Order: sequence, then C-alpha cells, then structure tokens
Amino acid sequence: MPLVTTTEMFKKAYEGGYAVGAFNVNNMEIVQGITEAAGELRSPLILQVSAGARKYANHNYLMKLVEAAILEQDIPIALHLDHGADFEICKACIDGGFTSVMIDGSHHSFEDNIALTKKVVEYAHAKGVVVEGELGQLAGIEDDVKVSAEDAKYTRPEEVEEFVSRTGVDSLAIAIGTSHGAFKFKPGQKPMLRFDILEEISRRLPGFPIVLHGASSVSQEYVKTIQANGGNLADAIGIPEEMLRQAAQGAVCKINIDSDLRLAMTAGVREVLYNNPAAFDPREYLKVGRANVKALVAHKIQNVLGSDHKA
Ligand code: G3H
Ligand code: 13P
Ligand code: ZN
Repeated sequence: MPLVTTTEMFKKAYEGGYAVGAFNVNNMEIVQGITEAAGELRSPLILQVSAGARKYANHNYLMKLVEAAILEQDIPIALHLDHGADFEICKACIDGGFTSVMIDGSHHSFEDNIALTKKVVEYAHAKGVVVEGELGQLAGIEDDVKVSAEDAKYTRPEEVEEFVSRTGVDSLAIAIGTSHGAFKFKPGQKPMLRFDILEEISRRLPGFPIVLHGASSVSQEYVKTIQANGGNLADAIGIPEEMLRQAAQGAVCKINIDSDLRLAMTAGVREVLYNNPAAFDPREYLKVGRANVKALVAHKIQNVLGSDHKA
C-alpha cells in the first residue's frame, strides 16, 4: 500500500477512542523494529523524521528506507516531518514525498504562528499533504534547542478555535505538561498532566485531532539495563503510561515517541558491548537494539495507544 495521509487514521482513531503512534526514525534498524511490530499487530502507523534525522541520515536514505518498509508491511503508514521550523523545510518534505508535515511556529507570537502555519497549509493542501500546527510550548530539548521548565507554556484553550480556523491545520499539538527528552520530571516530583486543558480544548474543537509531543514513558527496565551496563541515566523519568492511555481514549489521536526508542536501542547495544567487549560486528549489537525497538513499539501499540488490529 502506498504512503497515506493521517486524515483517515485520525478520523477512525477519534471515533474509536485510540491514538496512532508517531515514532521517530533515524536509521534502518529503527525503521525495521517499528514497522515489523506495527505490521504484526495490524496497527496504523506514523513514521516521523526530524530536521536532525534528515541531517544525520539524509532525506533520500530515509525516504528509501520507508519505501522499503511499505513493501514489507501491508498497513497504513504516514510519513511525517517532525517539528518543521520554517516554510522551506516543510516545502522540501512535501516536494520530497512526505504525506504529512508539522510546522512548529510555537516559539513565535500568535499572529506570526498563524501566518507561518497558514502559508505551509496552503502549499501542503495544494499537494494533498496534511499539516500539524502547534500552540503552547513544551519544555525539553528539540534539535539542540533547550526550553527550560520555567519557559514552557501550556496551550491557552481560548486561542485554539481561532488558530485552527484561520490556519486550516489538520491537527493541533498542544502543551499540557509533557516534555521532550528522558528527564521530564525532577526526582521526587509527581508526574502531572493538565487534563483540564485537554478537555477544554476538545470541547472547543469537537472531533478535531489533538497531538501529544514529548510522550515517552522512559521505561525503567531499559534505564536499569543501561545503568547496569556502564551507562549513566539515573533520574530519567517519563510520562506514566496510564495517563497516555487516558489521553488516547479522548481527543488525542497522535502520540509522539522518540526517547523511548532511543532508550530501547541503547539498552540493547550496551548490553551486548558491555557483556562482550570483544564484539565488533555491528550486526551483533544492532540486532539486539532492533529487537528492543520492536518489543517497545508492540507494547505501546497494545497497552498504551490501543491501535492494534485497527489497520
Ligand atoms: O522532538 C524531538 C524529537 O525527539 C526529535 O529529536 O531533533 O534530536 O532528532 P531530534
Ligand atoms: P519524547 O522525547 O518524549 O520521545 O518526545 C518525542 C517527540 O515529541 C517528537 O516530536
Ligand atoms: Zn516533539
């Protein structure tokens, strides 16, 4: 099946009370681990590529890896640009075969965010590509830009209707307390999401797909493995999975996961290299990383997103 947009996926997810996982891809093993899990569980899937991933792996390599995956797996897959910072990167991805782009104007003023998002929407829609916008600012690290917890801003529900109607976006990423990276809360701090803001936004935008970024749960199993094998990731804390499940049952149709994949891959690679310092065949350790990615994605699909058997 060719790459699809997220339109149909989100409609079904909204109505069915589940969410579609948007997983970041950077190399072949990550693409394979994610798509094999989704294929076996008959789950719709969003593969997303950041500016950093395009810089690391090159647009054409990533495109061809995803094209290979759609030959192997007969499930709906959308290819999405994660955190497009300007019109140019969105245009490059639209022209280069992506079916969905995010224009992240959340660091701009409300009016500038609207103007930039609208410009991307007009270009994308003319080419049959869908667009995700963002209102509110998450804490954490994206593309080497660090937003401190003090500078993070929850989405203001009173702005969402105007933003959606004036821009024409197809989905909206909001800030309700999730954040990017593996250190989302301080040790001892109780993880908390502003479900009241999510509910108010859903009330104002009935039927409209909402996106949660920064939604990794930071599995302690992988953190422990990394720690036991010479790593240093103590104090990594994520979003409790039951909170994501609750969000997925409501208006949240897309849940972004990257850090969890990184932890799964790193735990596997560390395990092999730490236990066998003589190993030097990349296949030996990448294979274990890939298996961890696959197991993680299968777990998310079945226990967090609820998207299994919805393809
Ligand atoms: O939101 C950030 C994603 O985890 C992508 O991270 O920019 O390091 O590829 P990256
Ligand atoms: P995590 O860092 O929580 O995995 O978030 C990823 C993300 O939001 C990508 O856009
Ligand atoms: Zn993000």
